[in-house]
This record gives sequence, C-alpha cells and structure tokens, in this order.
Amino acid sequence: MSQNLGTSKPVSLVCRQGGSLGMGIIYMDNAATSFPKAPGVVEAVAHYLEHIGASAGRGAHRLAREAESLLWDTRRLLANLFGVSEPKRVVFALNVTQALNMALFGLLREGDHVVTTSMEHNSVMRPLRHLERVRKISISLAQADREGVLEPQRVLELIRQETRLVVMNHASNVTGGILPVKEVAKLKGAAMLLVDAAQTGGAVPIRMEDWGVDLLAFTGHKSLLGPPGVGGLCLAPHVQLPPLIHGGTGTGSESHYQPLELPLAMEAGTHNMAGIAGLRAAASYILERGVESIMEYEGRLLEKLLEGLGGIKGVRIYGPSDILERVPVISINMVGMHPDHLAAVLEEGFGILVRPGLHCSPSAHQTLGTFPEGTVRISLGPLQEEKDVKALLQALEEISSQFGP
Ligand SMILES: Cc1ncc(COP(=O)(O)O)c(C=O)c1O
Repeated sequence: MSQNLGTSKPVSLVCRQGGSLGMGIIYMDNAATSFPKAPGVVEAVAHYLEHIGASAGRGAHRLAREAESLLWDTRRLLANLFGVSEPKRVVFALNVTQALNMALFGLLREGDHVVTTSMEHNSVMRPLRHLERVRKISISLAQADREGVLEPQRVLELIRQETRLVVMNHASNVTGGILPVKEVAKLKGAAMLLVDAAQTGGAVPIRMEDWGVDLLAFTGHKSLLGPPGVGGLCLAPHVQLPPLIHGGTGTGSESHYQPLELPLAMEAGTHNMAGIAGLRAAASYILERGVESIMEYEGRLLEKLLEGLGGIKGVRIYGPSDILERVPVISINMVGMHPDHLAAVLEEGFGILVRPGLHCSPSAHQTLGTFPEGTVRISLGPLQEEKDVKALLQALEEISSQFGP
C-alpha cells in the first residue's frame, strides 16, 4: 500500500459487526477473485482429494478413469456455458493469463499487426509489448472515452490488411463496462478475435461461436466462482494453435513430439484436478441458476449501489451510466481522499474489503484520468445480498461526512 494516503485524519469510525460472510467482514473484491465460491465447490475439491486423487489420462485404473471423466464433464459444462460446439476445443490452463499467452504467442508472427484497446489488463498488454520487442509486431490501441466506453468503430477503423488479431476485454475489470465484442466480431473481417472473458464468464451470457469470436480466454476463480489455479482457452473450429508448453500428456508416449490433437496438444503436464473438480461444481451451479438470472440479480444489486452512490457527497463514479452495459464492478473515488486511504477506512472502520489502486490495468486508468493513484474498486458477486450494498452505502455516507469535501 502506498504511503501517500492523501489526508492525515485518523481512522476513527466504529467497526460494524456482521457482514454477509458472518466473519465481521463484507467481501467486495470479487473482480480479483470471487469469495465465497459457489455452493458445492469446497465439497467437490475435498471429494476429489479424499476419494479420487488420481491424474486424468495417466493410467487406466478406476481412479484415473474417474479423474478423466471429471475432466471431460468439466469441459462439457464449459463448452455449454460459452457456446463451444466441441468440448475438446476447451483447453485447460492455469488461469486466463496463461490462456492469453497461449493464444498470443501461438498466433502472432514476426511483423503481424494487432489491434487492442485502452481498457486492457496487463495480462494482454505485457505479452503484447514483449512480442513487440521480440517479434516486431505492431500494436494499435483503440481508445475508449473518459468513462471507459468504447465504440466498436474505434476498433474497426484500426483494422488493416495485415492485422492478424484483435484482442479485447469482454468487460473492464476497472469500470465493469462491457466492451462491444459482438459488434467487433461481426465486422472485423479476416482478422482473428481473441476475447478476455475474465470478468464475464458466468456473469454474462456468451455464445462464442454464434458471435464469430475465434478464441475466448477464461479464468475459473472470478465470476465462474471456482477455485484459483484453473482457467482455459476456447478455440473456434477453424482455429489451429501451436502449443505454448510441450511435455507429457499420458498419450502417444512413444513419440518425442507433442500430439497434434486437441485438447492434449495444448495441455502438457498434470492437470490441476482439484481445481477442475471445484470448477465442475461451480459451472454446474451457474448453469443451474442460469447466467441470465445471475446477470439480472447482479444488475439489481448494481442498480441499488449506483443509485446510492449517486447521492453521496464527494463520490465520483467511473464507467458507463447504462446499467445494461456493466458487470457488477464499480470504480469510485472520494474527493480529497486517496483511494488507499478510502479502502483502509472501509476495512478498518467497517470491515468492508475492496481494492484500491490500478488493478493491473494502467492504461484503463490513464483512459479514465485516474492514473497513477487509481480508484477504489467495489466488485459484487452473485452470492452477495442487498444488505451488503446497504452497509457499504451507509459506510460511505459516514466517511463522506468525516473525510469528504
Ligand atoms: C480483465 C482481466 N483479465 C485478466 C485477468 C488476469 O486473471 P488471472 O490472474 O486469473 O489470470 C484479470 C484479473 O485480474 C482481469 O480482470
């Protein structure tokens, strides 16, 4: 945490008891990782560790077969969730960062041109900047407006004949604003489209193949409500990608070369089976509850939150005003208070956990005009309750009257 807290007033607010987790805290950092996880996740991880334990594809004994069926079940659920016609085209990785690296390093060659946006996370920007150095790719940045809203035209006008790839967020992890992925997919022409669905998987309906998205990267531990350590990449039927990592797959072991067939071509090394067991439970929960109904529920919380925030003196809200254009991630600042200080007061005074700073997305903050201090990010989840939102609003009211303008 930065030392420059903007004001030297002490944290003198009374700590509230309760909170939706029953531990005296209210967790509102779901954009970093969701907590609590979906019902059934903890049990599923424990069940795998206690009763299965084996690796998928390593051996033909009953526990290896059970692990294999768990792995494929999870692929099927994710294919269903994201609109992928063949489950073998869902390949597992550690997280969305690894999945994005698989796609970027696999697709981009010397001299390629890439279009991306000013709202990207470092998991896109850093590999792109590295490839700019080592493979001499060129990068064009589609600029979003001061609220982080990006017109599809800003992306489309940058696409040229040698553009190999457009890579963009489905929703910003800073403002929660949904980016025009569907519109870009429709009009991008021959360029490939890689979507970072870190903030939307499980929270926004996704039909990747119907939309014309070529590659979709996801992470299991955010809005998918699963454990950390598992994510992946979905490939449209026409997409071929060389592997980022080579090694054992449990198949074709006589060969010194990586198998060509999906998904194993992209999945060298032992899978995170405990994580995958948890993700299966989480994806089942999401499919049963319904992504539309989760979106509706979160939309109602978001509406209450935005309405309340609008009435608090000194609070500046960033991001699109249209509720339908957002996932439940909101960035705010309080006039006269450094974001680190506001977050510290929320935690120490009220037990509310949020995340201040740049959220690994410096160019998004440059776009919003909040660089280098950043914002306070409040991110809700589908297991959050309205009383949590009320508690946050009450806390911010009190903070505004003590520290605000
Ligand atoms: C939009 C976006 N992309 C990528 C990431 C990286 O996620 P992970 O750490 O799971 O790879 C995050 C989360 O921090 C994110 O919000």
